[in-house]
Amino acid sequence: MTNWEMVELHRNSGDWEKVVEEIVRIEKRVFPKHESLAKSFEEELKKKNNGLLYSKIGGEVAGYVMYSWPSSLYASITKLAVKENYRGQGHGEALLKAAIEKCKTRNIHRISLHVDPSRIAAMNLYKKLGFQVDSLVECYYSSDRNAYRMYLDFDTD
Ligand SMILES: CC(C)(COP(=O)(O)OP(=O)(O)OC[C@H]1O[C@@H](n2cnc3c(N)ncnc32)[C@H](O)[C@@H]1OP(=O)(O)O)[C@@H](O)C(=O)NCCC(=O)NCCS
Repeated sequence: MTNWEMVELHRNSGDWEKVVEEIVRIEKRVFPKHESLAKSFEEELKKKNNGLLYSKIGGEVAGYVMYSWPSSLYASITKLAVKENYRGQGHGEALLKAAIEKCKTRNIHRISLHVDPSRIAAMNLYKKLGFQVDSLVECYYSSDRNAYRMYLDFDTD
């Protein structure tokens, strides 16, 4: 990956609106309606205990990861996507690693997430970074789409 940077989106960022618009466009393209946060993305982001990192090439958003820490014990990866034309170049891995580091600074013990088992690239990426399958959650996304719940534990001293 060349000429890219990792950026943390803050509510007071000058380009908040433009970045959120771009992410919502990607969200609509990548995820089916019932799985997409497109409609509620801005509200989700404004919630306390929510964070978003994105990778940027030139002025463009290449990919993003959203995470939250509902309690002091665990965090969740709530979204991860890379634009089609930037896939396979390390953005997804860099984003996930950066989100894990952010979560670690909060002293939590576990990061969990849900993923459709048919999303092979995502499954491989999560396993590569140490996530393990916890259980299959039936009808998680819709009546005919299940999810694996996955988790990554770390020691906190
Ligand atoms: C999953 C996703 C974010 C990966 O992003 P990416 O930038 O293409 O991934 P990277 O280039 O960083 O690849 C990192 C690892 O992911 C896995 N991976 C990525 N693309 C893959 C593919 N096409 N097939 C199999 N594994 C793949 C590999 O383990 C890879 O490591 P390697 O290069 O050592 O083999 C991207 O494919 C995506 O946006 N998919 C659609 C949305 C999605 O499924 N999001 C997850 C929802 S839970």
